[in-house]
Amino acid sequence: MVDLSTTIGGIPLSSCIYNASGPRTGSSAAMSKIAASSSGGVLAKSATVANQTGNDQPRTWHDENGSASLNSEGLPNNGIEYYIDPKTIAETMGDQSKPYMVSISGKCLNDNLLMLGQISDAINQNPSINIAAVELNLACPNIVGKPTIGYDFEQMEDVMKQVTSLPCFKGSKPLFRLGVKMPPYFDRPHFEQAAAILNKYKSVITYVASINTIGNALAVDYYAEMPVIRAKGGFAGLSGPAVKYTALANVKQMRELLDESIDVVGVGGVTSGKDAFEMILCGARAVQVGTCHWVEGPSCFDRMCNELTDIMKEKGYTSIDDFRGKLKEWSKEGAALSRSAKAAKKSSDKVAIEKKESENHSILAVLFAIIAVLLADKFNFVSL
Ligand code: DHB
Repeated sequence: MVDLSTTIGGIPLSSCIYNASGPRTGSSAAMSKIAASSSGGVLAKSATVANQTGNDQPRTWHDENGSASLNSEGLPNNGIEYYIDPKTIAETMGDQSKPYMVSISGKCLNDNLLMLGQISDAINQNPSINIAAVELNLACPNIVGKPTIGYDFEQMEDVMKQVTSLPCFKGSKPLFRLGVKMPPYFDRPHFEQAAAILNKYKSVITYVASINTIGNALAVDYYAEMPVIRAKGGFAGLSGPAVKYTALANVKQMRELLDESIDVVGVGGVTSGKDAFEMILCGARAVQVGTCHWVEGPSCFDRMCNELTDIMKEKGYTSIDDFRGKLKEWSKEGAALSRSAKAAKKSSDKVAIEKKESENHSILAVLFAIIAVLLADKFNFVSL
């Protein structure tokens, strides 16, 4: 039996694969489809204090070969009150008992403090409100005139200090877990500085989700000779398969640098069970799916869970703990093993193709025979 379950910040997830905040997470109608799928939990769209419509269209784009997407939505959302309203949560979850989580992305520190206060007040007034975690987004690159918080270490330190001092995180049992969504880093000293700040607040931060989009990418419309995205001069967040390798590196480095009490959730370019497997090897305790969910819809969770199950069966793993964080160092023995595994796969693929071709030939032969008999019957060849 293969078990895909995990925990993040102590929150149990029936499957280690769940949705990222962003695509198809703006309304309870959309989120209910995630809840009904194999997704291990449901994470809502990043909320601001008040509802807002976001940037002008077009604000999203998918590369025609499926390798990358861009978005500069400017945080369209229904406002924090909507995402913590018991009605929204009930409509989203139906009879599913998996965790419901919200994401906040205030326009300034005070907005984040205000929203955390609103969430705590709502839970204090109505303890049946079940919000397992709040993911604080330090990484939205799409707000005109606002730098990404996770790239401004002074601001990030201030945000973490003030957020973690809130009364909702005091006491032995906090009202909800706190996760932090990080932008991608590309340079070891930046990883070290970011992780050092997060480690300072390890008594409150329970997980770190890496990575948000690679900010300020640009795609050009060849015919019109202009950007494909309208807002911010066309600069937008890059996501999809193109960012997977940056995401894997961020997961690996964060896992190395963060205190072990802080879990790492891998996000960025995951489109298959194999991608999820690689994230977990690099140290992720769970994997979020954004762009693929956007493109494929919520059936992607069922597909990826099945694919990860098959991989684990093939490799003889029964739980994700069997391989989590166990990426090996490069070695000559490993390279030789990889070469022979690829050769064996190539020859078994060839055998499978030949078998299929010979089956097809047999089917064609039978069809020809049937047609010949029918023609013979029609033209009375038998009587000749
Ligand atoms: C948006 C983009 C992000 O990458 C994010 O984390 C939050 C919001 C947006 O443009 O709406």
